[in-house]
Amino acid sequence: MNYILITGASKGIGLAIARGWAGRGYNVLLVARNPTELESAAAAIRNDFKVDAQWRSEDLGDAGAPQRLLDWCSTSGFAVQGLVNNAGYGSSGAFADLPLDGQLNMMQVNMNAVVALTHLFLPELKKHPKAWLLNIASSAAYQSVPFLSIYAASKAFVLTFSRGLRYELRKTPVSVTCVCPGATDTNFADRAQVGVKALKAAEKVNMTPEAVGEAAVKATLAGRAELVTGVINKVGAFLVWLLPKGLAEKTAAGLYE
Ligand SMILES: NC(=O)c1ccc[n+]([C@@H]2O[C@H](COP(=O)([O-])OP(=O)(O)OC[C@H]3O[C@@H](n4cnc5c(N)ncnc54)[C@H](OP(=O)(O)O)[C@@H]3O)[C@@H](O)[C@H]2O)c1
Repeated sequence: MNYILITGASKGIGLAIARGWAGRGYNVLLVARNPTELESAAAAIRNDFKVDAQWRSEDLGDAGAPQRLLDWCSTSGFAVQGLVNNAGYGSSGAFADLPLDGQLNMMQVNMNAVVALTHLFLPELKKHPKAWLLNIASSAAYQSVPFLSIYAASKAFVLTFSRGLRYELRKTPVSVTCVCPGATDTNFADRAQVGVKALKAAEKVNMTPEAVGEAAVKATLAGRAELVTGVINKVGAFLVWLLPKGLAEKTAAGLYE
């Protein structure tokens, strides 16, 4: 049976993406760390959309997790027709003051796991007449963000990697899409421990995870290369492109310092 595999699918944007696929009749495989949240997310999807929803608890900060996910799919007979690399997190603060192991773990989840899962699952995706790879980056992919430096750099990596890979795969059945959300009302800001100024700014422009998830699935099925979600974030990305880099960085630093 065919499935869409979604990482970080227990809540937030990833859960909305999983529900977006399920609402269109696709079976889904949900991956995150918390088994209780995964179990209830999968049960709700089965109940609401009458598709199959299976889950597996894995920490993508562990370099062995992508191979275990491939093995799980092979031994269970799950044919993966879509891969959504959504799991990710941020950590705010001055680079020099943040513990190194935390920064390296973030890079493992936000970048290395994306690369490993993509590499491992590509042969499986290519077996289908049509297949999808959706990577979730961020509006932070378009500029350096002082005090969120590694996070922004990791998302720039995801965007650049996705675009390059899309070109490489243009003559295959695999369509690659990169979606860059702006501020979205999820657990992200809490985990990143962003300060009051960034929280207040986000409150004014926050999108719902449901709106972001729906836009992401639509863009993927439409074969889009890249999408910045929401009008305000599109304007923001354009201004960042237009403004001198130093000014964009100073503005961002004012929010996160
Ligand atoms: N919210 C925003 O403002 C925003 C803006 C731009 C981009 N994004 C990006 O959108 C994506 C989804 O974030 P979100 O806003 O939905 O955040 P979220 O509510 O914190 O959800 C993150 C998801 O990833 C899972 N996850 C986190 N660390 C993991 C790990 N080590 N291994 C496996 N799963 C892990 C979480 O479940 P467990 O904790 O149970 O593992 C959860 O399912 C991320 O890549 C984020 O960078 C978010």
